Order: sequence, then structure tokens, then C-alpha cells
Amino acid sequence: MNIALLGFGTVGSHFYKLCEGRTDLHVAAVLSRRPRPELTCTVTADYDEIVRDPSIDIVVEVMGGIEPAYSYLCAAMRAGKHVVTANKQLMCAHFEELTSLAREKGVALRCTAAAGGGIPWLTSLSRASELDEIKAVEGILNGTTNYMLSAMTNSGADYAPALQKAQELGYAEADPTADVEGLDARRKIVLSADLAFGVNIREEDIPCVGISSITAGDIAKAKDEGLTYKLIARAEKNGRAVAAFVCPTLFPSSAPEAHTDGTGNLVTLFASRFGKQSFSGAGAGGYPTGSNVLRDCLDVADGCRSFYADSFTPCSVNLSGTQCKWLFRCMGEYFTRECSAREAFDAYESYRKDDPHALLARYAAEEE
Ligand code: HSE
Repeated sequence: MNIALLGFGTVGSHFYKLCEGRTDLHVAAVLSRRPRPELTCTVTADYDEIVRDPSIDIVVEVMGGIEPAYSYLCAAMRAGKHVVTANKQLMCAHFEELTSLAREKGVALRCTAAAGGGIPWLTSLSRASELDEIKAVEGILNGTTNYMLSAMTNSGADYAPALQKAQELGYAEADPTADVEGLDARRKIVLSADLAFGVNIREEDIPCVGISSITAGDIAKAKDEGLTYKLIARAEKNGRAVAAFVCPTLFPSSAPEAHTDGTGNLVTLFASRFGKQSFSGAGAGGYPTGSNVLRDCLDVADGCRSFYADSFTPCSVNLSGTQCKWLFRCMGEYFTRECSAREAFDAYESYRKDDPHALLARYAAEEE
């Protein structure tokens, strides 16, 4: 199968290396604005050249962002080409249009690398949902914030130096907003919920609290109580709706999440009959993420001609039925409350009017 690669950053260049020497997949073209004399394949800045080339079977998109990625992938599918993408932002923003177009054109659309980095999470989740009813999915889905919280927990560092170190190591972007405010984790839980429950939920309906309010003092207090902060994204089926949110969560030291350090991810599905399954591994990085892109391409080469499931029902987000124990900090005072997720996020928004650095965290619940 011949591949055209859109994007030659960390993931793209590592995917390219993973394909070198293979006989089943061949990167025939790379879309690049600048010349790349080190590459032996066609290098072009003209996307039309790729779309018009009948020898290209799969378009792999690892550019990120909405445009021009959205237009490029639509054009590829309209031209009958299969599409593999690692772009969670794009998949969340245009889930319905992209999956419908793939179905209409009878081409494969895969995005396994969009959630969980190198962990085959979305493929495993999709297969699990064919076996049993998935009740909930949740986990550590952002490597950058997990690195920062691990550094703050292990070395006592405060938020700003932990962020600076994450940027120096190339984990956090120059603009780290999507990572630290939980937006990246939210996109990943949207895709996870969609595949787990056969729904189509909207990113903007999901309350999202990141880690930017967590201080060294919060971490030290939690440590004294035997607890560890992790940024958790969660979605559970709640009748006809889905309850989903992103929020710092406190885990006891016995929980595997508490021991997931660095840029690791750990994500769990809860099924009605076969119970709980967890998946862990590298949540970011060139070779891990590139491997999931490669796996998708091999699935296409093996005959996959679809998205992960046939159809998805638009679905509302309703947090009223999810009861948890929550920790708040406002104006320097800590207090706990047991209430629904809806009440907790509403209370947090109101506390933030008095204290923009207020904290909301959930206490992890024991779950079957
Ligand atoms: N910024 C993302 C993370 C990259 O830190 O997890 C992988 O999706």
C-alpha cells in the first residue's frame, strides 16, 4: 500500500522511520512546505498532487489542528483514499461529518493514535464494546500533565517550574493551554465515549478543570493524607445520556493510577459482564504514537474499510446522576462535599468568581 504522509513533525518523522524497510507499506509522498533532501520519496508542497495521484492508497495526517487538515482529509476520502489520523482536535470537532463521509465513500477512517499515544486503547475499546456493554471509561489521558504532577509529587516542585521543565523536555507546547487546562484530555475522552457507547457527544458540553490551580501546598497536603493527584477524564453511560468530565482526582497509594509516572497514560474500561480492564503505556512520543499510526495502516492493508463502528447517536451530557466526594479550596480554605458532578462543577464556577485560583478535585471511588 502506498502512503502519503501529511506532517513531518515528531509523530510524522517517527512513523516514516517505522515504515522504512517494510515491504507491505511504502511512504510514497510527504507533504512539506520546505524541501527535504534527506527523504527518498516524493516531497511536495502541493496537496492536489497527492489527491490526484491514483497510486496513493492511504493518506496519513499527523499535522494537527483543524484546517487545512479537515479539508485535506475530506478531499482524500472523496477521492476514494483511506485516511489515518492522529488528530483528536479534528476528530472531535468534525466527528459526524468525517465518519459519515467515510461510510458514504466506503473508505477506512482510523484514529487510534488520537487517544492514548502508543497504547492500542481505541481499538481495544472498540472491540470490547462489541462483546459487552461498556458502563464507563476513565483514565490518565494526557502525558504532559501527568509528567508535571509526577514531578510536583516526587520533588515538591511548584506548578511553574514543573511546567518549565515539561517545556524544556519538549512535552508541553510553547502554549501549553490545551494540556494544562484539560482540553486535550477532554478530546480524548470524547472519542473514547463515542466508541464505547456508540454516541456522538460534544466536547464543549463537558466540564473541564485542568491542573493549573494545583499548588505545591495542595500536593503536600494530599501526600500527608496518603493521596496523589492525577488529571482524570471520565465518561459513564447514564440512561440515555452520558456523564463526562475532566478533573484532578485524588488516588490512594494502592491505586495503579498513583504509580503511573512521567508521560505515562493509564486508561480503564468498565464492562457490565467481563468487568474492568486497564491499559497503560507511553501516552505521547514519536515512536509510541507512530506505532499506533502504523497499526492503523496495517489494519487498512488487511482490509479494514470503515470507522470503528457503523453509526453513532447524538447524545446529551448530563452530570446530575453522578455522585462523588469532592475537595474544594477557595480563599485558602479546604472543604469537602458529597454531591453530584453537576453541583460540584457549578459550585466550583461560583467559587472561582471570588478566587480565580480556587481548586476542585474529586476523590477516586472504588469501582467494580
Ligand atoms: N499533548 C499530548 C499529551 C500529546 O501530552 O498527552 C499526546 O496526545
